[in-house]
Amino acid sequence: MVNFEQIKGFVFDLDGVIADTSIYHSKAWRQLAEELGVTWTTELSNNLKGVSRMDSLNLILKAGGKESAYTEEEKEHYATEKNTNYLNLLKDMDASAILPGINDFIEDLKRHDYKLSLASASKNSPLVLEQLGLAKYFEKRVDPATLKHGKPDPEIFARGAEILGLKPEECVGIEDATAGIKSINGASELSIGIGDPKILNEADINFTDTSKLTLENIKQALK
Ligand code: G6P
Ligand code: MG
Repeated sequence: MVNFEQIKGFVFDLDGVIADTSIYHSKAWRQLAEELGVTWTTELSNNLKGVSRMDSLNLILKAGGKESAYTEEEKEHYATEKNTNYLNLLKDMDASAILPGINDFIEDLKRHDYKLSLASASKNSPLVLEQLGLAKYFEKRVDPATLKHGKPDPEIFARGAEILGLKPEECVGIEDATAGIKSINGASELSIGIGDPKILNEADINFTDTSKLTLENIKQALK
């Protein structure tokens, strides 16, 4: 595994790592799934984490055995409907949605001259970062619209390192989704999973929640 001393950059997921917006994504998808007559389960909810908007809709339709029930145009309509609902839920969101310890962790990373980038599949990430007051820390962002493949493909995390001018083995990727951990591992970066270690069992290091995400804890985990 990687030495702590060789780490130069951190590539962050957004939803469920920096802010608790993943609950809003879930809420909005659940509403649509129920409208389409697809049973909502915890497993489905977990599988959608980190997955792009259209891929998420396709997973929902598949779970309900409806993968060929709609035209591309109808699917675009439903994806837009989910996004409208999601943006409505975000309307009043502010810095209080930042997850515990994240502000301190980011401050600490800046103090120690680590480089930071964002590898979120969300096309709403610039808006979310603005509302959280964190945009200034994430000037380097992978634009998900430019990707050939979404998570779990390594492309997004590989790009997250590239835009920092760093090699993958100098970077740490932080994720709350199984698809994201697979993407980080595929890009040969050190993976940190935030959440249930049984679900994120492929992560190199696991913290049950963001309050445990500190440089000291990462250093300890690598010893
Ligand atoms: C993140 C979230 C997913 C979401 C995806 C696309 O990865 O974890 O739940 O579906 O972004 O988000 P968007 O805001 O573009 O619909
Ligand atoms: Mg996430």
